[in-house]
Amino acid sequence: MGVAEDLSSLRDEALDSVASANDLTALEAVRVAFLGKRGSLTSVLRGLGALAPQDRPVIGQLANQIREELEKAIATRRDELASQALAARLQAESVDVTLPGRKRSPGKQHLIHQIVDEITAVFVGLGYCVAEGPEVELEYYNFTALNHPPEHPARAATDTFYVRDLSDEASNVPGECDVLLRTHTSPVQVRVMERQAPPIYVLVPGKVYRRDVADPSHLPRFTQIEGLVVDEGITFGDLKGTLEHFVREVFGSTRRVRLRPHFFPFTEPSAEVDVSCGICGGEGCRSCGGEGWLEVLGCGMVDPNVFSYVGIDPERYSGFAFGMGAERIAALKYGVPDLRLLVEGDMRFLRQF
Ligand code: PHE
Repeated sequence: MGVAEDLSSLRDEALDSVASANDLTALEAVRVAFLGKRGSLTSVLRGLGALAPQDRPVIGQLANQIREELEKAIATRRDELASQALAARLQAESVDVTLPGRKRSPGKQHLIHQIVDEITAVFVGLGYCVAEGPEVELEYYNFTALNHPPEHPARAATDTFYVRDLSDEASNVPGECDVLLRTHTSPVQVRVMERQAPPIYVLVPGKVYRRDVADPSHLPRFTQIEGLVVDEGITFGDLKGTLEHFVREVFGSTRRVRLRPHFFPFTEPSAEVDVSCGICGGEGCRSCGGEGWLEVLGCGMVDPNVFSYVGIDPERYSGFAFGMGAERIAALKYGVPDLRLLVEGDMRFLRQF
């Protein structure tokens, strides 16, 4: 019987193709070729009607058997291929847990920011709030309201960056409305006192600018941290106690503090604060220039003239202020010999902190 033989050779051919299909796509192509809508076995089943009526049941049954057998073979092969594929993937993606780990170097804060945060935390611990002000500032806040007389040398265009070009005309002196890059964070004292009534306890970190050439102890742009306290009954003793606490917290309890009389236009009396050298302990060595002491900040009692600019009654309130350079504090704390290292971005230096 011709049709039965055709069917059985179709079966053999189909089973061979299933067995030799090497991946799931090839197997699917085999399934479509034999069992799909236009597949060869499907067409045999469709053609049953053309057979003699007595042949139909036999051939039909045979064709159905072959189809079932083929479906089973395809399913089995599919499972086989799937588990082979899984095994290959597990092999390829396997992790050797005995390999040594690769070291990651996560980023961290720049030393200047670490110092600013550390100092801020000390004063926040004393109940201070953090305030900020603009880096591009009015002459009024940077100098005038801080009691700088009009002829004060710091106002000169040789010391301060003015936004307006003052270079050509000799008569073109800076005035109160001039805009400049602030030379210190002290103008924020005035801004805070203008908008807030005492009691005031603020810490003001920020960038400041001076027309200096960068050298081991100067940067044209650096970071200051300003403090301002205004309250009833504030004395120089409060200032000194506060600064001693600050020095112990940042430099350690063995360091001593010394105040030297100084002058600032906006504080009276004023002082500079020195901390005993961490290397020689005050004896005098190379790192403190033989002095035994290192200067860390400027400070003083708020001048009543400054209070008059912001409408605070000097009969009722008194206050103190201080200002320090964060880069300098960092250099003193860690023995950095040249401030320029702090802004050059050399990773070999920065990674040490
Ligand atoms: N602004 C001063 C400076 O930059 C420092 C200072 C701040 C002094 C507050 C006294 C009080 O040198």
